[in-house]
Amino acid sequence: MSEIMQNKLRLGVNIDHVATVRNARGGMYPDPLRAALLAEEAGADGITAHLREDRRHITDRDIEALIDGLSVPLNFEMAATDEMQKIALRHVPHAVCIVPEKREERTTEGGLEVAREENKIGDFIAPLREAGCRVSIFIAADQRQIESAARIGAPVIELHTGAYCDAHAEGRFDERDAELERLRDMTKFASDLGLEVHAGHGLTFDCVKPIAAFPQVLELNIGHFLIGESIFIGLDGAIKQMRTIMDDARA
Ligand code: PXP
Repeated sequence: MSEIMQNKLRLGVNIDHVATVRNARGGMYPDPLRAALLAEEAGADGITAHLREDRRHITDRDIEALIDGLSVPLNFEMAATDEMQKIALRHVPHAVCIVPEKREERTTEGGLEVAREENKIGDFIAPLREAGCRVSIFIAADQRQIESAARIGAPVIELHTGAYCDAHAEGRFDERDAELERLRDMTKFASDLGLEVHAGHGLTFDCVKPIAAFPQVLELNIGHFLIGESIFIGLDGAIKQMRTIMDDARA
C-alpha cells in the first residue's frame, strides 16, 4: 500500500439525525438510506448509524435497509445489551462500535467504562469478533480505558472528542487546548499498543482540523453537524467541505 493510501483519513458519516427529522412527524421522509447513498456519492468512506434502545432515531427497519442498500461499510453503533448483540449477529455489519447509553441523555455523553467492566465487555465483544465484525469501543481519552480495551482484544477504539469540541464552541480555549493535548497523547499511546484509533463526537468544520492532523487517527465519525449544515449547503456540499478540511489537515 502506498504511503498516501496509508495516510488517508476515512470519513464515516453518521445519518442518525436524518431519522430524527423523519421521526418528528412519524412519516417516511427524509429517508436515512437516501441520505446514506448521497453521502456515499459525496465521498463518505462509511456510514454510521446508532440503533438506540428507545429507537428515538434509527429504527430496526433502517438498519435492514442500510445493510441491503449500502456499497460502503456500515458502522453499527450499539449499547452492550443482549438485544443489540442479537441484532448485530443477525446482520453481521462490517463494524460494530460499542457505546454507553442512558435513556435520559440527549446524546452519547461520555465514553464506555470498559476499565470497570473489563470481563463483561470482553465476553460481550467475543462473539461479535468471531462473527467477523470489526469491533470498536467508544471511550474517553484515558489511559486506563485504553489499556482495558487492548486487554480485552478490541482491535479498534474510538476516542470521544465531545469535551474538546464543546470547549472550542464555548470559547474555553485553555480547556480546549488541554483536551486536545490529551487526545493527541492518548492517540499515540493507543496506537503504540497496537490499537487502530478512530475519533468522533461534536466535530465541526471549525474544530475538526487538529484532530484530523493526528497521523495515528484512521477514521472520523461525524453526524450532527453535517446533517445540520446540509440544511444550508446540501449534504453533498457539507461532506465535500469536511473531506477537504480533513485532507488539508493530513497533507
Ligand atoms: N461516534 C460515536 C461513537 C457516536 O456515538 C456519535 C454520536 O452518535 C458520533 C461519533 C457522531 O457524533 P456527532 O453526531 O456529534 O458528530
